[in-house]
Amino acid sequence: MANERLDDLRARLRQDALTRGIHPRDVDLLLGDLLSMSLASLYAHGDIEVDAARVAAYLRRRYEGEPLQYIRGKQEFYSRDFVVDERVLIPRPETELIVETAVERAPRGARVIDVGTGSGCIAISIECERTDLRVTGVDRSVDALAVAALNRARLESRVALAASDLFDGVRGTFDLIVSNPPYVPRGEYEQLATEVRVHEPRMALTPGPSGTELIERLLDQSHARLAAGGLVIMEVGYGQEESIREIAETKRYEIDAFLPDLAGIPRVVVLSAHAR
Ligand SMILES: C[S@@+](CC[C@H](N)C(=O)[O-])C[C@H]1O[C@@H](n2cnc3c(N)ncnc32)[C@H](O)[C@@H]1O
Repeated sequence: MANERLDDLRARLRQDALTRGIHPRDVDLLLGDLLSMSLASLYAHGDIEVDAARVAAYLRRRYEGEPLQYIRGKQEFYSRDFVVDERVLIPRPETELIVETAVERAPRGARVIDVGTGSGCIAISIECERTDLRVTGVDRSVDALAVAALNRARLESRVALAASDLFDGVRGTFDLIVSNPPYVPRGEYEQLATEVRVHEPRMALTPGPSGTELIERLLDQSHARLAAGGLVIMEVGYGQEESIREIAETKRYEIDAFLPDLAGIPRVVVLSAHAR
């Protein structure tokens, strides 16, 4: 197979990526992974010869729309690398706000449950930051739980993991209920980028026509699962603030805070239950 000078190949592939609407940095990251080189050494050793056909075959997955994170098999979240593949949603940066809020608000030794844990990114990050907490992650998808278990082992976390439709498979009460539930209304889901729709699990993204179906069920069930003084910390979608306020009132919750993400979008709601 024809070898090519790394610098020449990189320049050609970055240009090619641009014309396909793909960020040229993806080329560098994938080249680095394939050649087991850091970005710094990739830039410093441009004169080595590499197998151009092997590189092209690897990049084809990206050109065909597979998300960069699934090809690389990892995504950074709260400063740790999490293994990801098509069994789980790719952790998004705005979700770090749930971790930050939980880490700040959890009383010492608190019991925490992450409902819809996916890759385990929220549950494991909280537990790694606050080893005094007793953290459980649940998901309806056993495939997702297998990925969470991998991350738990790699990051030497002690979170408990369980297959469960919301709280059905776990017992007891919790001081914090955290969740990034699927919240995309079905109509909007159909309009999402192909990259998301084709590759990320549908169950992780849309719960039904209104987008708030799982949030409503979660809040119904949380009354019986919140310890006295406990909090629900939950991510919501763009433009959902108003409907979440209405749902919270109907379901007898007090909104303690509605926290904006870095783009200023109300993203994480902190709720406490009205006294029964
Ligand atoms: C938006 S993803 C969040 C994944 C991960 N926590 C994160 O923030 O990256 C929602 C997760 O909820 C799970 N899920 C959907 N319906 C569920 C249900 N009824 N009970 C438990 N988990 C559910 C999905 O499988 C998915 O892993």
